[in-house]
Amino acid sequence: MPTTNETLHDRFIDLAGLPEQGLVVDLGCGAGPALAAFGRRLPQARLTGFDRSEQALDTARERLQSHQGAVELASQDLREKLPLADGSVDAVISSNLLECLPDPANLLNEIWRVLRPGGRVVLSHSDFDALVISGAPVKLDRRICHAFADDAPAWMDSSDGRIGRKLPGLVQASPLTRTHVETLVTSSTELAGHAARRVGDIRGALLATARRGRGLVLAEEVEEWYAALQQAADAGGFFFAETAVIVAARCV
Ligand SMILES: C[S@@+](CC[C@H](N)C(=O)[O-])C[C@H]1O[C@@H](n2cnc3c(N)ncnc32)[C@H](O)[C@@H]1O
Repeated sequence: MPTTNETLHDRFIDLAGLPEQGLVVDLGCGAGPALAAFGRRLPQARLTGFDRSEQALDTARERLQSHQGAVELASQDLREKLPLADGSVDAVISSNLLECLPDPANLLNEIWRVLRPGGRVVLSHSDFDALVISGAPVKLDRRICHAFADDAPAWMDSSDGRIGRKLPGLVQASPLTRTHVETLVTSSTELAGHAARRVGDIRGALLATARRGRGLVLAEEVEEWYAALQQAADAGGFFFAETAVIVAARCV
């Protein structure tokens, strides 16, 4: 069975319609998993990724070193103008970046500017305020999940846990022409794989903000929640579901 990322990246590739030697730009590319998926399917494609985490870019460079087409991975603050010429890009992709930006509409304007006429963009964002997790007491679970949706860890300039559900409207309000909206739900009865990574992210992020004295929940609450999920998982009572909203649009 494909992993969540494999399924998501397949959808990016299907919806981006990239020509064989086309240029795809990943905004907030992180460690480059989506670009690597494009490279496997389209070995001659030109792959560009922007992120401001040097560590993530180093991993992406290693991951893409054997790609046959041109690869450019550069540090870039995506709150600012993209370092790309008008109408120069065939496809733009971006996953789980927009909530970090105080003005996501600005980036959508930039995407429209750099896409060639007919070029496509595929955006995906999990709706973190809609996480479904069963295993901990209800009140505690609500506090933890809402804190995760609302809290901005140190590496994010802002946080909008509801950006997933807002994504179709944001694109509609931009100069891009929205063509397609779908959801990808990842679910699991095991505290393993994507579910374990996300639960670990939640725990790590909330513990870090609690330690900085800025948390919306206490470190003890986070650990109580985590222990309850582990116990539930051992007893077969754990369930997890995360919804990613995927929106495709064109530059006309
Ligand atoms: C949740 S990660 C997603 C990474 C990748 N798209 C993926 O799906 O695996 C968000 C990424 O956005 C980057 N990021 C956040 N704010 C940024 C900004 N203002 N400029 C550039 N990159 C930013 C982070 O460094 C991080 O790599």
